[in-house]
Amino acid sequence: MGKVILLSFVALVAVLVTCQTKPVVGLPLSTNSRWIVDERGQRVKLACLNWVSHTNTVLAEGLNKQPVDVISKRIRSMGFNCVRLTWPLDLATNDSLASLTVRKSLQNLGLIESIAGIEANNPSIIDLPLIKAFQAVVTSLGDNNVMAILDNHLTKPGWCCSRTDGNGFFGDIYFDPNVWIKGLTHMATLFNGVTNVVGMSLRNELRGARENVDDWYKYMQRGAEAVHAANPNVLTILSGLNFDHDLSFLHNKQVNLTYTGKLVFEGHWYSFTDPNTWDTGNVNDVCGRLTKNMMNLQGFLVGQGWPLFMSEFGWDGRGTDLSDNRYINCFMAYAAELDLDWALWELAGSYYYRSGVIGLNEVYGILDYNWCHTRNPSFLKKLSGIQSPFQGPSASETTPYKVIFHPLTGQCVLRKTPLGPLTLGPCNESEAWNYTPENNLRLKGTYFCLQTQEFGKPLPRLGVLCLGPNSKWDMISDSKMHLSSTTIDGSVVCLDVDSNNNIVTNTCKCLSGDAKCEPASQWFKLVDSTRSLIR
Ligand SMILES: *[C@@H]1O[C@H](CO)[C@@H](O)[C@H](O)[C@H]1NC(C)=O
Ligand SMILES: *[C@@H]1O[C@H](CO)[C@@H](O)[C@H](O)[C@H]1NC(C)=O
Ligand SMILES: *[C@@H]1O[C@H](CO)[C@@H](O)[C@H](O)[C@H]1NC(C)=O
Repeated sequence: MGKVILLSFVALVAVLVTCQTKPVVGLPLSTNSRWIVDERGQRVKLACLNWVSHTNTVLAEGLNKQPVDVISKRIRSMGFNCVRLTWPLDLATNDSLASLTVRKSLQNLGLIESIAGIEANNPSIIDLPLIKAFQAVVTSLGDNNVMAILDNHLTKPGWCCSRTDGNGFFGDIYFDPNVWIKGLTHMATLFNGVTNVVGMSLRNELRGARENVDDWYKYMQRGAEAVHAANPNVLTILSGLNFDHDLSFLHNKQVNLTYTGKLVFEGHWYSFTDPNTWDTGNVNDVCGRLTKNMMNLQGFLVGQGWPLFMSEFGWDGRGTDLSDNRYINCFMAYAAELDLDWALWELAGSYYYRSGVIGLNEVYGILDYNWCHTRNPSFLKKLSGIQSPFQGPSASETTPYKVIFHPLTGQCVLRKTPLGPLTLGPCNESEAWNYTPENNLRLKGTYFCLQTQEFGKPLPRLGVLCLGPNSKWDMISDSKMHLSSTTIDGSVVCLDVDSNNNIVTNTCKCLSGDAKCEPASQWFKLVDSTRSLIR
């Protein structure tokens, strides 16, 4: 693309992007049991994007495609309130790297086109030292009301992570604990007083032959203390073993720190965390089994009263990867049920340079190759279902109820008219339900309950005589996400969604066995909510 065209295009995008300002949360953040809260004690749910700044260029990606402020505004307008900004330890410990200019860093890698792109889109950044460019990105995020979590992703700039890359665990060739503490301290100090920096992820995805629980406690506690001493405002976020999949050792032994109210744990979960699983098994079986596994490895922490930040998850937004397509719906249910804080992998639509490839396309990116449009708008809509909190301390908190959450769409069940039919809509407009001991789904505060009709009459209705089997809804299959009932004429059916977004009942599908069958249209999760009702 020629420079003139590029510039006019950028101007157009800048006009199109609207700045959606939401109430500023009172920073700094702290923790209250499993919730992250602001200064007033109100829950702040982290709905973040990972923004890669740790690869060979040591520069936040995309600055060759869009002005940094356009990207920051875009993050906000897509409904995200924060960024997990990755950095390599060398940036904080190697002065000659930190003082290298952006231009020189790109020149060293032969990235001539990227230089031209940054000159056009971010002329004020191209000749900054790398550390100043990193700070400029954080400043832009802050100016646009986006919180930042600084994530020490690895030591040596480059793509991450393998078991044998020498960056994996304390004592590896590129992972000297003392250098790490020094680097963490440096970064924490540098951003002390920068209010939108709300947290630091101490180290991404510990892994490899050296990993062990004793060293985890020894060094993670030291790292956390060092960060807290240098910058008591930030949340200190600790990642687990085995690529941040495993925090199960915390079942038995707590972290011992001198401070309180700032400790958060982070976990990762991808489809490839469990290779050859999603695409070979029955989806209900797999989702049920892996969700249980996730509860044991990570999810139990919220029950212990710790915030859990699902700081990496993601999928191929083209929708062409069978495992990803299956996993992401199971993930959505898990994240909604636990009402987790999270960070999607990732913002970038493309990279300057990754793993030997110039201008690599990122199919996991929320933005497209040119950082212009969302790659997959329906995925963004789906994610919006978990961007707002369902629970947690809030001035407008109400008595608990259930929403009937549909992971496939990220939407919730609500009424089109007072007596139905029912449809899917935004969860902020959800109906409030009670799930009674008789397994009735009652509209909160009314006598109305959800009932099936005769088989072949697919629209369930709201009735007041709720004793019959057609008013009883069981959660069946291994995933427990099929809401099943019996029709007046005795057929077993499951709740489903038709092509007009109407809630219907259908023959239950894919309950077990069949590995080729996709159940997700019939997946519903009863999620606890105390969100104030707006309908
Ligand atoms: C520090 O960074 C410079 C510039 O990238 C590099 O040449 C040098 O090898 C690095 N030093 C260490 C000790 O990593
Ligand atoms: C926690 O650490 C302190 C020192 O920082 C130590 O005195 C104390 O015994 C430790 N507690 C436990 C339960 O390990
Ligand atoms: C609910 O959220 C959607 C965005 O997901 C928004 O467009 C809509 O205005 C919200 N509705 C209310 C009543 O706040």
